[in-house]
Amino acid sequence: AGQGVLASGRGSNLQAINKAINGGKLNAKIGVVITDNPEAPALDYASDNNIPAVCVNPNNYKNKIAFESAVVQTLTGFETDLVILAGYMRILSGYFLKNFPGRVMNIHPSLLPSFPGKDAQRQALDYGVKIAGCTVHFVNEGIDSGPIILQTTVPVLETDDVNLLSERILNVEHQTYYQAISLYAAGKLKIENVSVSDKTGLI
Ligand code: GRF
Repeated sequence: AGQGVLASGRGSNLQAINKAINGGKLNAKIGVVITDNPEAPALDYASDNNIPAVCVNPNNYKNKIAFESAVVQTLTGFETDLVILAGYMRILSGYFLKNFPGRVMNIHPSLLPSFPGKDAQRQALDYGVKIAGCTVHFVNEGIDSGPIILQTTVPVLETDDVNLLSERILNVEHQTYYQAISLYAAGKLKIENVSVSDKTGLI
């Protein structure tokens, strides 16, 4: 069993995870990379690095469930234990999540619950926060709303623009994601049900 990575674009988090594995910092195995976009650089990175790479193109399916069912089948075919979202630009339905209960992780470029959704770094700058960062969390049916696993902070500087802040956050994303996966792979995470939302605790 291994991890299945879903990506839509650049794939720098995929690369960071794969480098952590190859560098002996993360004891895990990427079984397959799936993109929803035939042009995604993440797809080329995977095939260049001997990771099975599959594009499941939503244009080839009649609706969202049919598309997701093809993704689920591909993940299952590669014996996926944990699904890792790395710049995957689609909201997963309850149908998808039921196939991987408590087994889907995402990374988001803000300190959740602040600034969910698109353009998180722009939202942080517009709000004027002085500390920003990234969050790794388990995925539920909401948008960037599942139980939080790890967060890393970075300062927001007076001189920042979206690119500078995004780059600073991306750097810590690359350090944070593999650490969260490592906790999961070592069986050190449990999801607790609490009244307001679920939360993730260390075992
Ligand atoms: C990252 O900023 C991640 O937090 C967000 O999408 C971006 C993906 O970048 N969910 P990459 O494709 O991993 O380079």
